[in-house]
Amino acid sequence: MRLSCKVAAALLCLGSLLLLYLLAGSAAAPPRPPPAPSPPARPAAAPLARRQPRLSRSPPRRNPAGGKFVNARKPGEQKHSKEPSSLQCMHLAVVACGDRLEETLIMLKSAVLFSNRRLCFHIFAEDSLKPEFEKKLKEWPSSYTKKFEYNIYPITFSVGNAQEWKKLFKPCAAQRLFLPVILKDVDSLLYVDTDVLFLRPIDDIWHILKEFNSTQLAAMAPEHEIPKIGWYSRFARHPYYGTTGVNSGVMLMNLTRIRNTQFKNSMIPSGLTWEEMLYPLYQKYKNYITWGDQDLLNIIFYFNPGKY
Ligand SMILES: *[C@@H]1O[C@H](CO)[C@@H](O)[C@H](O)[C@H]1NC(C)=O
Ligand SMILES: *[C@@H]1O[C@H](CO)[C@@H](O)[C@H](O)[C@H]1NC(C)=O
Repeated sequence: MRLSCKVAAALLCLGSLLLLYLLAGSAAAPPRPPPAPSPPARPAAAPLARRQPRLSRSPPRRNPAGGKFVNARKPGEQKHSKEPSSLQCMHLAVVACGDRLEETLIMLKSAVLFSNRRLCFHIFAEDSLKPEFEKKLKEWPSSYTKKFEYNIYPITFSVGNAQEWKKLFKPCAAQRLFLPVILKDVDSLLYVDTDVLFLRPIDDIWHILKEFNSTQLAAMAPEHEIPKIGWYSRFARHPYYGTTGVNSGVMLMNLTRIRNTQFKNSMIPSGLTWEEMLYPLYQKYKNYITWGDQDLLNIIFYFNPGKY
């Protein structure tokens, strides 16, 4: 039968076309990544004992250009009642050098945008950036500028050789180690890297300061969640905190306590103050550290585990 032959041929044609199409399709499809478990939203940093923090960065690049997102908002946590202490400000410190001006301004904007209580910015910047910062901040609408005050400080290192500190990891990164020494009138602050973006009020992370027990003086997130692939657990040639080390990109610090504490260390049996300890510590470990100031923090908290 001619007709059925034709039909059969047509069907065969169609079938092989379909097969070709499917084969080509599956060859072109990219391999699928394994499904990633979606982590619940958590605060970016917290005392380790509370097991809340997560903010992982993938080493070896310590400052991925994409930036990090702090504090995805948890449902049901939207509103915070105004406290009587609402006039007291929440202190936010950042260190900006080189080409980080725009990035820093965006971070500050996100802080102003979501926060409820008044903010005090402590901006440490190279001298050349200071006029630019002032100009840009003045351009903001007054509805925002009235929510904060700011101070711009030069980059200074109180102990040791400034050139040497500047060469540690990235220019100016070591400045954060000196915050307790420079900001003598500030009780507590939140330090953030310039590549941080706030997605909820700073008030939320600020409250964690109140959850410190009597010996805790700083809060950071672990550098990594999985020791097998963490940077410190695989490569570090110096002591580090916990199983994966800490990340210093977002750091809550009670500066009063840091100033008043005698820190245990690997250099002398008695304690040293924060400022006394920094330079000798750097001298001792400078040939073993990769991420500069963050490594020094890891060494400090390794020897002072109850403080973090
Ligand atoms: C920081 O520590 C000091 C001394 O222990 C304490 O008086 C102060 O209330 C603490 N600051 C905050 C914000 O908890
Ligand atoms: C505070 O918490 C830390 C755990 O992070 C603990 O090691 C330390 O002993 C605690 N301090 C006090 C006084 O309870």
